[in-house]
Amino acid sequence: MTPATSVPTGPQVRPRRLRGSGPLRRLVAETRLHPADLVLPVFVREGIDAPVEISSMPGAVQHTIDSLVEEARACVAAGIGGVMLFGVPQTKDARGSGADDPEGILNVATRAVVDAVGDELVVMTDLCLDEFTDHGHCGVLTTDPAGRTVVDNDATLARYADMALAQAAAGAHVLGLSGMMDGQVARVRAALDTAGHTDTLVLAYAAKYTSALYGPFREAVQSSLTGDRATYQQDPANAVEALREVELDLAEGADIIMVKPAQPHLDIIAATAQISTVPVAAYQISGEYAQIVATADRGWIDRDAAVLESLIHIRRAGAQMILTYFALEVAGRL
Ligand code: PBG
Repeated sequence: MTPATSVPTGPQVRPRRLRGSGPLRRLVAETRLHPADLVLPVFVREGIDAPVEISSMPGAVQHTIDSLVEEARACVAAGIGGVMLFGVPQTKDARGSGADDPEGILNVATRAVVDAVGDELVVMTDLCLDEFTDHGHCGVLTTDPAGRTVVDNDATLARYADMALAQAAAGAHVLGLSGMMDGQVARVRAALDTAGHTDTLVLAYAAKYTSALYGPFREAVQSSLTGDRATYQQDPANAVEALREVELDLAEGADIIMVKPAQPHLDIIAATAQISTVPVAAYQISGEYAQIVATADRGWIDRDAAVLESLIHIRRAGAQMILTYFALEVAGRL
């Protein structure tokens, strides 16, 4: 027996005391997840009578307009912050005509969702041409002086401006500019303001990295892309370049800045949060979702724990809001 007066031999400082119980851990948690911070990305497909499953994203579907509206109502009931709509048109062409057609699937669906839940949920729309072009690129194509087929940055900006006007007219609250064209935020902002849509927000996918993890999404939107997006999306080797993109988008008037994919780029989320003067979002993309779902389906990891863990990492890195296909699944557990 050690006499009561002797000097303790163990450590004087015991950080573990703060981890001793669930209630204590909850009290001292520096970061929390809340349903209101989550945005559910959803797909709506033209010309179907019932939702269609997406095989590489088990649990996610291509919605009909009706099932999409039901999903949006479920988001309201779960206290989720918003939805991000993606359209899957029946026909595509070189300039992505369906994108700015008021009767295009995305614009029709936006009107339906805004009519149903627009007062209770932030309705966001993807502003990019890739779902609507027959070549699958995010912009219109041209031939450069060397004879190569390339994306025409400046011609694409005109298409984005038209798309922005159609989406704002359909009632979208936030336009998600995901095409990574130079000058897209300024051009869309100017088009919106000129048309009187001064209250429509721009969410800029400022640092959008090229990634193999977009694979399941390409199935979800039935992408026609061959090749890659490396001439416009960022090289995962670079970090400084991401901050330049963030600064440009802030200067061009972005209301929200996004980093994507999320988990591979936690360093970029953290660096963006340091310099951003507007809210920072992160997108846990389709491949991040599929990795967790597939591994859990094999019984190799615990799905519920892995999902929560993945989201808290993204919050801790500095993202205030998270676009995630798990939004509805986790909302009830937060
Ligand atoms: C472009 C867009 C993409 C995603 C969101 N917006 C696809 C791409 O850039 O290839 C990917 C989202 C995901 O993988 O979950 N419209």
